[in-house]
Amino acid sequence: MNNDRYLTFALGKGRLANKTLELLEKTGITCEEMKDKNSRKLIFVNEDLKLRFFLAKGPDVPTYVEYGAADIGVVGSDTIMEENRRVYEVLDLGFGKCRMCVCGPAQARELLKHHERIRVASKYPNIAKDYFFNKKHQTVDIIKLNGSVELGPIVGLSDVIVDIVETGSTLRENGLEVLEEICPLSARMIVNQVSMQMETERIRSLIQKLKPLCEA
Ligand code: PRP
Repeated sequence: MNNDRYLTFALGKGRLANKTLELLEKTGITCEEMKDKNSRKLIFVNEDLKLRFFLAKGPDVPTYVEYGAADIGVVGSDTIMEENRRVYEVLDLGFGKCRMCVCGPAQARELLKHHERIRVASKYPNIAKDYFFNKKHQTVDIIKLNGSVELGPIVGLSDVIVDIVETGSTLRENGLEVLEEICPLSARMIVNQVSMQMETERIRSLIQKLKPLCEA
């Protein structure tokens, strides 16, 4: 095994990245460089441990990992499902817990019951498609949005939305509610398929160290 090879981590920007760094610190993996909030650097190195870290947009993390630009990625299971990349999902990190739900105004409940052809807005068109077409066998029109999806039913773009619900306050403050739950979500560790073979020992030992630290 070539011990000089850097193991590269792609972390989804934001809260998940901070939580991941906290978790890694507990296993003795630190990256001081990354803590400098004023830095515009994109890639950070721990020379002693031969590790590299970079921050990427969440939906890009599985792409970096599939192509081997990163050996390991940490990203929400929503993104893993939506992107459907060829990567190994090796660990549920237990944080970033939330739910993927169909949401809308209370009166939209009827439209879901009667399998009507409705409009569904979502940042997650693949998850929405899979849920309505394959699980519910309901023909719907999916409208892709890039954020503030709750606007969909409010301004009349869509009947319902498929989106993440964490505390539920965005829904409450906008007069919407959870109509159906699709699945629970949390942060996951993913690994490039070739890296898993080439760096088995380093990656396995990391997983073993992280496992007991992961929230249930
Ligand atoms: C996410 C999600 C909901 C909100 C849910 O949006 O899309 O809008 O958080 O959280 P809550 O249940 O705790 O209110 P995000 O903040 O990522 O921004 P976006 O709407 O621009 O995607």
